[in-house]
Amino acid sequence: MSLALDPTAQDLLFREARTANTFTDEPVTDEQVRAIYDLAKYGPTAFNQSPLRITLVRSPEARERLVRHMAEGNRPKTATAPLVAILAADNEFHEKLPHLFPHFPQAKDAFFSERPVRESAAAVNAALQAAYFIVGVRAAGLAAGPMTGFDFEGVRKEFLDDDHTPLMVVNIGRPGPDAWRPRGPRLEFEQVVTTV
Ligand SMILES: Cc1cc2nc3c(=O)[nH]c(=O)nc-3n(C[C@H](O)[C@H](O)[C@H](O)COP(=O)(O)O)c2cc1C
Repeated sequence: MSLALDPTAQDLLFREARTANTFTDEPVTDEQVRAIYDLAKYGPTAFNQSPLRITLVRSPEARERLVRHMAEGNRPKTATAPLVAILAADNEFHEKLPHLFPHFPQAKDAFFSERPVRESAAAVNAALQAAYFIVGVRAAGLAAGPMTGFDFEGVRKEFLDDDHTPLMVVNIGRPGPDAWRPRGPRLEFEQVVTTV
């Protein structure tokens, strides 16, 4: 009764959504990815800096190059998922701030002229956007398999450049057979929340 969201949608986005480890062959289309992004883009970031950048790894040749950088246990699912996305943080996001934060265009120079400041802001805010993206995948009726088990420097060199830092690789598709282990426990409210 405390939630405004329809219970079916609650299940789809959270309660029944799982991290898939196997997938069916059903393709994930560019239209689906666009619809996912067009939802996820509205999630908030500091100064609306929106530093998430997404590389869709579609060609078999690119997929092979990515799989080589994945941890052993992540290789089979990354090789077979219908779609794989590399999520990265753009450390030069400040260039777009005058457009993204028009009511205070000076933010670009006032707060983000130094690269280390940008790197830490980009890491936090792109991670937030990665979470919105995962929930967006679920909203499309698909399952996401996010992974940080890979060679970050290898993936950066292979697919990105010095201005982009990889955050995670996400397998996307419909869950296949034996897609997950039993649901792991979560921490209870009392273990997590304190009131002062
Ligand atoms: C940022 C992130 C990194 C993860 N990295 C890996 C990984 O490298 N390999 C893997 O098999 N699972 C990985 N996982 C999956 C988690 O173990 C899984 O999401 C978590 O146990 C919850 O599972 P559930 O959604 O089925 O309840 C990762 C998940 C997240 C969000």
